[in-house]
Amino acid sequence: MNNAVAGFSKLSKEEKINWIANHYFSTPSEAIALLKNYWNSDEKIQKLHDEFIENTISNFYIPLGVAPNFLINGKYSTIPMAIEESSVVAAASKAAKFWSTRGGFKTTVINTEKIGQVHFIYKGDESKLTSFFAQLKSKLFTITEHLTKNMQKRGGGILDIVLKDKTDLLPNYHQLHVTFETVDSMGANFINSCLEQFAQTLQEEALSCALFSEEEKNLQVVMSILSNYVPNCIVRAEVSCPIEDLAEKHIENPHEFTAKFIQAVQIAEVEPFRAVTHNKGIMNGIDAVVLATGNDFRAVEAGVHAYASRDGQYSSLSHAKTENGVFSFWLEIPLALGTVGGLTSLHPLVKLSLEMLEKPSAKELMQIVAVAGLAQNFAALRSLTTTGIQEGHMKMHLNNILNQFEANDEERHLIKKHFKHHVVSHSAVVDFIEYLRK
Ligand code: MEV
Repeated sequence: MNNAVAGFSKLSKEEKINWIANHYFSTPSEAIALLKNYWNSDEKIQKLHDEFIENTISNFYIPLGVAPNFLINGKYSTIPMAIEESSVVAAASKAAKFWSTRGGFKTTVINTEKIGQVHFIYKGDESKLTSFFAQLKSKLFTITEHLTKNMQKRGGGILDIVLKDKTDLLPNYHQLHVTFETVDSMGANFINSCLEQFAQTLQEEALSCALFSEEEKNLQVVMSILSNYVPNCIVRAEVSCPIEDLAEKHIENPHEFTAKFIQAVQIAEVEPFRAVTHNKGIMNGIDAVVLATGNDFRAVEAGVHAYASRDGQYSSLSHAKTENGVFSFWLEIPLALGTVGGLTSLHPLVKLSLEMLEKPSAKELMQIVAVAGLAQNFAALRSLTTTGIQEGHMKMHLNNILNQFEANDEERHLIKKHFKHHVVSHSAVVDFIEYLRK
């Protein structure tokens, strides 16, 4: 069958679904029914989702969970998390409860600068370009006033515009490297609009610059775009308590636990294979909150991992130490987030999540997200260095296995009772189901 299609985006939703169903499924009616089963019964909500992207045929659900008891700077929060991985919310809740009786999480926003760049090619005398830019700079601020007016009212705007000579990296390559404060918005649209205006003015003004030769006038803009690498948009989250206070179930000897925990962090600091998994655990918490609050988790992921490699080798985002009998565990990460604009005022569940978080500012959300990451990392390292990860993970995963085998209520009851006292593994559960069904 020919699976190429012309003008697909012009088809109605119904036509798109029919085309997909007839081209890819042996029983088209079943595929259609399944896709429609995931439509929202509220037409207004469905229309909203249809229009988020192109060619929407259905909705793709992942669970929205909550992790309560997060004591952050003396105030309790319940954190919404959108994630499919079984054990993440349970681990976050457990870590939140653990630290709530040990002083809670302390956070600070270190800085909030965003970055955008106009990448351009200039062939000519560097000193002439420097003089040209010195004259142009103030015009770049005035020409974007219509864009920056509202942002300035909210306390943000363009912080600085710097000309960068990058010819050591690529022949004739230069940049306008621009820094922004975007307050409560993530700022992507604002930044990109300013940059595109800069690019246009840069090119136009070069054409009429008396300093330039004909070749120099022909300055070519390659592209204008924000950077998702924001090493000056950093938040810090920390927990600490006297080593003795760490004692709990599975932490009979807090001194031994602390030593092993710190070793685990040190391994992630020096060994990239471990660092990636260590940081993945942090991102389990971060992405889930970023997604639930309508932020761009791909942007956050890209920026965070670049930051983890800033010294030339990929390394742990979190660190731990003991000093004078006190254990501390912390992370510092770049997070460009928004609590206004984008999906935040559109997606009903995003609005709900933000309301649950008591309508945070972007700075407050940075702190909550960083805490979710640190909590997740603590929970993972605690399990890894004590019981091992599989015990908790498989307990949570048990339901997925039971669903896979369509276990009935009685089977579920018996299986859960049995695995309270036995190690859960996929094969052990399957064996037990088969035994029950014999
Ligand atoms: C699993 O999603 C995350 C962990 O692998 C993180 C870690 O190893 O630190 C448990």
